[in-house]
Formats: sequence, structure tokens, C-alpha cells
Amino acid sequence: MQALQAALEKLEEVKDLHTLEELRLLVLGKKGLLAHAFAGLKELEQEEKTRYAQELNRFKESFSTLHAQKKQALQALELQVRLEAEKIDVSLANTHSGGSLGHPLNYTKERIITHFTQRGFKLHLGALVEDDFHNFSALNIPPHHPARAMQDTFYFKDHKLLRTHTSPSQIHAMQTQTPPIKMIAVGHTFRRDYDTTHTPMFSQVEGLVVDTGVHFGHLKQVLEEFLNAFFGSVKVRWRSSFFPFTEPSAEVDMSCVFCQQKGCKVCKNTGWLEVLGAGLVHPEVFKNVGLEGMQGYAFGLGIERLAMLSCEINDLRSFFETDLRMLEAF
Ligand code: PHE
Repeated sequence: MQALQAALEKLEEVKDLHTLEELRLLVLGKKGLLAHAFAGLKELEQEEKTRYAQELNRFKESFSTLHAQKKQALQALELQVRLEAEKIDVSLANTHSGGSLGHPLNYTKERIITHFTQRGFKLHLGALVEDDFHNFSALNIPPHHPARAMQDTFYFKDHKLLRTHTSPSQIHAMQTQTPPIKMIAVGHTFRRDYDTTHTPMFSQVEGLVVDTGVHFGHLKQVLEEFLNAFFGSVKVRWRSSFFPFTEPSAEVDMSCVFCQQKGCKVCKNTGWLEVLGAGLVHPEVFKNVGLEGMQGYAFGLGIERLAMLSCEINDLRSFFETDLRMLEAF
């Protein structure tokens, strides 16, 4: 009983959660003081046994109550200390002397915009809410194409939708301008998707050139120059692909910037990274906007993808979590 009394007194004075837990184990643990005391009961006479058992039970109750109170108080205190230590005063003047590059997505976007506008591409912004015609049917995406499926597209009640790519800006440009057209469109796009490589909102850059005599060689030159300017010297590989609004269509890979094609996790040991979709504007698309007989090329790229590759970020979601540690790295 003496040891128990001493433990109770110690409990009063405990100042941290670690010692508190140690004390709890000492008293209430499986091999603790109380268990030991209860085990000793069987050696006592009946009367004394009852009295002593009652005493032990009373002790157990007061120890437990006090322990719970202490724990709550110490936890509150710990939280207080943490909040104090991690406090961010958003009204403080910025003391970073070197300036920052900003959020990696904005930084990447600005670099892409600068590259293309310096080469005569006019910047278009475009609306986030589109109709079926601009997002799909004008782009030669037929009614039953999988890209239209409910699980991919956010629909509104009145047949409007959140654009699933920046390609509708091609249609707007061709409807409102007479060729030659040379534009890029930049902005948010939306799909119903969420995991380490997909977020419901992401952003794309669309490029469109419409003129007479435009051919695939022009497209190759423009994109290979871009990738080399953006990533330093890279090899570029063109793979034949399919998009309903371009013909022929291609996916563009560049040599892995992480392993120089030796093979790594990012390129899944292939040595190549997929970075772009592109192709010559499909004759059906020209027909849909009244520009039959024109030539042109279009390309689309994901800003998050390029930012992840150029800033070495491996979880897409970290762009949107506004974690200061991540942002301060830039
Ligand atoms: N819109 C296509 C996509 O989101 C990309 C693309 C744009 C492909 C332009 C070809 C031409 O995947």
C-alpha cells in the first residue's frame, strides 16, 4: 500500500506524457503494483481480505480518475506548445531576399507560355464551362466515344459541362478567327478521376496552327525545339497514336531526364517518358467549323506532368495540398 500511495503522489507531480505512461504501467500494468497487491489477497484471512480488497479498489478508482485528468491536461498543453511553435504569421513581411519561383505549376505554365508566345503563338484563355459541341462533337468525338462517359465528364443540368481538355479552344479559335491562326490556350481542365497520377482538376496547354501548306514536319520541328528548350538536350520519339480530332495522330516521348535512358522507376525502365499528344487537324474538324480544305496541326500537353518531370515531384496531389515545406523548396 505504501508503494501505491507513493505512486499516487508522483502522479500529482508528473509533467510529461511519457512519464505519465510509465507511471500508469507501473501501477495498472499486467505485472504492475496493483496486480501484485490483488494477487497477495489470497494469503489473507477472509475479513481482512474483504477490507483490503475494498481499499485496493478505491485506490484503483482514484488513481484512474487522476490519471485521466492528468492525461487530458498534458495533451492540451502539448498541443498548445506545438501550435505556438508551428504558428505562421501570414501578415509578416516576406524576408526571402532571393525571391521565389512561385508555385511549381505556375512556374511551369509561365515557362511554357513564354516559350510559345516568343515564337508567335497568341495566348488564348478560354472558358472552363463548355457545351457538348465544342468539347466533343466539333472535335469529331462521336456520341458513343468513351471520353464522353459519365464517369469521366462533369456535367451540368443544362447540357453544359466542365471541359475535359483544352481542345475546345481549337474550335473557338477557328470559329472566331480567319487563318492563318497560331495560338496556344492554357488553363484548367476537369475529369472525374483521383489517385496519385490523376486529380479531378488539372491543366493543359493546347497548341493550334492553321494555314495553307502546314505539314507534319512543321509540327515535329516546333515540338522537338520546345522539349529541348524546356528540358535541356533530349531525344524525341514519335509513336503513332489515335485522337479523333487529328489525323495522323502521334504521342510524343522524350528520353528519360532522370536516368539518361539507363532505366529507372520514373520511366518504368523503358528509357522514355510520354509527354505530349499531337497530330494534323482532322478534315472533319475543319468541316465542322467551315474551314474545309485547310491544313493545320494541334498538340496538347499536361502542365502537371511537365512540372513533375522538371521539378522532380513524384506525387501529383502534392501540387494541391499547399504544404509550406513543399512550396518553400521553390
Ligand atoms: N486533347 C488531348 C488530350 O486531352 C490532347 C491532344 C491535343 C492531342 C491536341 C492531339 C492534339 O489527351
